[in-house]
Amino acid sequence: MFLHMIRYLLSLFLSISISFPKFLQVMCFFKEISIVRFVALLYFTLSITISSGANTISANQSLSGDYTIISEGEQFELGFFKAGNSSKYYIGIWYKKLYSNPPTIVWVANRETPISDRFRSELKFVNGNLVLLNESKFQIWSTNVSTTTTLKSVIAVILDDGNLVLRDSGSNSIEPFWQSFEHPTDTWLPGSKLGYNNRTKTSQIFTSWRSKEDPGVGLFSLELYPSSKEYVSKWNGSQQYWTSGSWNGNSFDLIPEMRLDNIFNYSYNTNENESYFTYSVYNPSIISRNMMAVSGQIQLLTWSENTKEWILVWSQPKTRCDVYALCGAFGICRQTALQFCNCLTAFEPRSESDWNQSDFSGGCVRKSDLQCGGNMEKHDFLMITVKSLPPNNSTEVGSAGECRTTCLNNCSCNAYSFVDNQCLVWNGDLLNLSEDNDNDSGKTIFVKVASKDLPHHKKTNWVTVGAVVGSVGGVVFVLGVILFLIFRKKRISLSAGKTTMEGSLVAFGYRDLKIATKNFSDKLGGGGFGSVFKGVLHDSSIVAVKKLESISQGEKQFRSEVSTIGTIQHVNLVRLRGFCAQGKNKLLVYDHMANGSLDTHLFHGKQVLNWETRYQIALGTARGLVYLHEKCRDCIIHCDIKPDNILLDVDFSPKIADFGLAKLVGRDFSRVLTSTRGSIGYPAPEWLSGVAITAKADVYSYGMVLFELLHGKRNAEHSEGSRSKYFPGLVASVLIEGGDVISLLDSRLNREACVEQVTKFCKVACWCIQDEEERRPTMSLVERILEGVLDVEMPPIPQICHYN
Ligand SMILES: *[C@@H]1O[C@H](CO)[C@@H](O)[C@H](O)[C@H]1NC(C)=O
Ligand SMILES: *[C@@H]1O[C@H](CO)[C@@H](O)[C@H](O)[C@H]1NC(C)=O
Repeated sequence: MFLHMIRYLLSLFLSISISFPKFLQVMCFFKEISIVRFVALLYFTLSITISSGANTISANQSLSGDYTIISEGEQFELGFFKAGNSSKYYIGIWYKKLYSNPPTIVWVANRETPISDRFRSELKFVNGNLVLLNESKFQIWSTNVSTTTTLKSVIAVILDDGNLVLRDSGSNSIEPFWQSFEHPTDTWLPGSKLGYNNRTKTSQIFTSWRSKEDPGVGLFSLELYPSSKEYVSKWNGSQQYWTSGSWNGNSFDLIPEMRLDNIFNYSYNTNENESYFTYSVYNPSIISRNMMAVSGQIQLLTWSENTKEWILVWSQPKTRCDVYALCGAFGICRQTALQFCNCLTAFEPRSESDWNQSDFSGGCVRKSDLQCGGNMEKHDFLMITVKSLPPNNSTEVGSAGECRTTCLNNCSCNAYSFVDNQCLVWNGDLLNLSEDNDNDSGKTIFVKVASKDLPHHKKTNWVTVGAVVGSVGGVVFVLGVILFLIFRKKRISLSAGKTTMEGSLVAFGYRDLKIATKNFSDKLGGGGFGSVFKGVLHDSSIVAVKKLESISQGEKQFRSEVSTIGTIQHVNLVRLRGFCAQGKNKLLVYDHMANGSLDTHLFHGKQVLNWETRYQIALGTARGLVYLHEKCRDCIIHCDIKPDNILLDVDFSPKIADFGLAKLVGRDFSRVLTSTRGSIGYPAPEWLSGVAITAKADVYSYGMVLFELLHGKRNAEHSEGSRSKYFPGLVASVLIEGGDVISLLDSRLNREACVEQVTKFCKVACWCIQDEEERRPTMSLVERILEGVLDVEMPPIPQICHYN
């Protein structure tokens, strides 16, 4: 009660005297120093707390505990927050309206100096600076402006753009004397500048958080080089690993996709005081932010109200493993793995808990220390292939063998490499290892480890056991094959006159096939490789006979390719039963599929497939592709996935046709692809750029098929004069704006579908058609997502959709 009264009296007094310095002056006038001291003490311990909903901290107020200030339009909020599960608190700014959990922090004051008791800590003005006092009233953070003595009445205001500004409300100028936008942490909001002060010659530096749960200064930073008008990302303040290229008036040279962007408006400005880059959003209802992420990538994100999550629009560098030393010392980055960072074999994370929080900066350490001096036989070398050799090596003379011995005998040597007849050794930590599976370009490096930590060491016994089991199995297998062949040969010779067996395939005579297809009269369809005809064999089974065109291969090579295709059998792949190779005539004989190809059902209104069937078709097709990509002895890229090549059996279960043909047709294949009208829109962009094609090209085409399963129309149809939006683009925008996904559905389905399934379908489709191959999921990942085993995140907007 007593305290309240004093507080009240003080505030009354203050409202007259306006500001504390003035109030002190008045008191000093009476030279009652001891009273001044007493009142000053009271003032500091009892400063007035913030009223709820205010957007301002004024000179006589303090913020502590769960009090916050909120911007006028309720966009942003400032107060204490806790990062992750720790008990450390920070002063920060976060979005008020997004009920994301945890809140999205855009700025942090005391990044390096957290407090633990927020009720006894205070944020308030001291001598014109906003300062944070910890539990012991010790100043741990300050706005640190040196020219505050002339200020009359200071206030701190949180604005609707997320900027915290400090102003002198006693002066006429509304120009802030300090603002958080000029002291950024990791986030860059629309309207804020990413700049360079031409007077003080200092750059604003954005630095990543140390980990998702630690806002401390991390290793990755972004800053402007004004002379070349480019942004650079650095590791540990020195090692540059990415650049935007120079600003050319409408985009940065190395981010040309910015030009296609119709959501954001970017600009670069320079004057005598400063040079800066800034951006705004055309549509003010879109919430977006840029940040230097913990992954070392610059990310542009937008908020999806529907799913209550942030969506990645783009990130730079695009390839995560291009971030310098992302995985720390002795860590290796694997672009294709679900977990990017891994410790080298025989190494383990220095800190398991940091590692689990995606803070890889601590790197890895050996499981067993190297025993120096004594028994060197206990050491061995781990061979790895990396994109580029790590830095900080020294050069020795000698052959490859001598290089190895040099490293083995030198206690502090961690690794060696013998490249271009040069021996390189590393005595310090190995940084920036990025796995390279492409043997042509990779560099081999040998890392010294304790022999007992290498896997082969323990498994010697298993190898012999395996060999025994293997050879027994081999004998059984060979016997089985012989019996099988004898059996088949008997059956075939009974049923089909002149035909012979080759492997599990039947080698048909041309005349037999001519008879079976009634002189190729019943045409089922045509395609890039030739026409398909219906036929009936002697045993009255129905087959589809494909007459291949433009095969330049010789008979022997053709037979060997075909027999490879013949060994590929899966419930979601059309079975090849046999072939014919007589002179120019090259034919393939497949099982006939009762319900024809998917395109006839989807686009030609034969029969409307319900949602459940469409989902099963997508899943089955994914399984077929997983088999081709991952389960066969050699990975097979289909190269021509489209509804016309997905056949449906009696139960509408999908079976992929025409796999393996890309190899048969060889060089002419891309010509076949691009000249076939039916294939427009399915080939991935890398087909046009001429780079090597990977299984991810199939993933792209598969994504296009998903859109068509959803829509019941060809994606490419939009180009034929209609005003409607390109369908994949429409899907992406509905997803991102959180619209009604069911409205995207084929209208013939009358909205009958499960919302969760449709949403998942749309997300997967958008992931599959990403421009960058490494962003597209593998088919096995798609399979698991569609099965419901894995969740799928919100996809970035595919590049192709920017063309709308
Ligand atoms: C405040 O500025 C001084 C010198 O200008 C500097 O030494 C000090 O580290 C700064 N303190 C903070 C908290 O930024
Ligand atoms: C970063 O650089 C500083 C010296 O500038 C060095 O002391 C520190 O060890 C480096 N950090 C890492 C993780 O290498």
